[in-house]
Amino acid sequence: MVSAWPASADTLEARVTACLACHGENGQSALPEVPSLGAQPAFYLLIQLFMFREKMRVVDVMNRMTQELSDNDLRGLADTIAKLPSPPPAGGPVDPARMERARALIEQHRCNFCHKRDYSGEESVPRLAGQREDYLVKALREYKDNSRRAYDASMADVLYLLTDGQILDLAYFLARVR
Ligand code: HEC
Ligand code: HEC
Repeated sequence: MVSAWPASADTLEARVTACLACHGENGQSALPEVPSLGAQPAFYLLIQLFMFREKMRVVDVMNRMTQELSDNDLRGLADTIAKLPSPPPAGGPVDPARMERARALIEQHRCNFCHKRDYSGEESVPRLAGQREDYLVKALREYKDNSRRAYDASMADVLYLLTDGQILDLAYFLARVR
């Protein structure tokens, strides 16, 4: 359990080190259901950190990590983390039929309009390319069952129409897309 900041974590650098112990030093997370943060748009990071601090997005560890931080602290973290390299696509063999099914869903629901054609995100819209597949599944299921509160209604509107099987195909695709 990470309960509070270690006494030494009072500089931006020390805080970033503590964050990346979970989220991965090079921008890529190695831990199940912990998102990679490399190359996320700084504004998306800032909004989510603010929502964690205000407990609008409820995730115990993140609510505690942000509790004592000022707006300026959050901005410093967001700006620093956004500069980490983007996570590479998942390796291994790719199932072309699943990729094709996901591509059709993406066209239909215009995921690539908001998240950009290369899924790199912009402004308040997150990067999806190379994100951990398990985290993508978790995030999409939580929008669908309304357990994740979002900055706006975009994702609730989209998820309303998607089945769990389609969520699995979309996460498979986004983790591997090149
Ligand atoms: C003990 C592990 C741990 C530590 C330390 C930690 N995080 Fe997290 N963080 C998580 C988990 C788990 C989630 C995913 C929550 C969920 O499932 O929605 C998360 C989510 C996030 C998100 C949302 C990402 C997205 O794609 O929506 C951001 C941003 C974030 N953390 C930033 C930070 C920052 C900045 C710090 C340091 C101040 C930090 N984290 C420290 C575990 C951690
Ligand atoms: C109208 C714009 C829009 C469309 C269309 C859209 N998204 Fe999003 N998406 C967003 C925004 C904005 C967020 C951040 C919401 C929040 O604050 O949680 C987001 C968040 C996400 C997340 C969470 C990522 C993370 O790091 O936590 C995933 C996964 C995602 N979208 C996948 C998709 C998929 C798959 C589709 C198509 C089926 C899609 N989105 C369509 C705007 C959109």
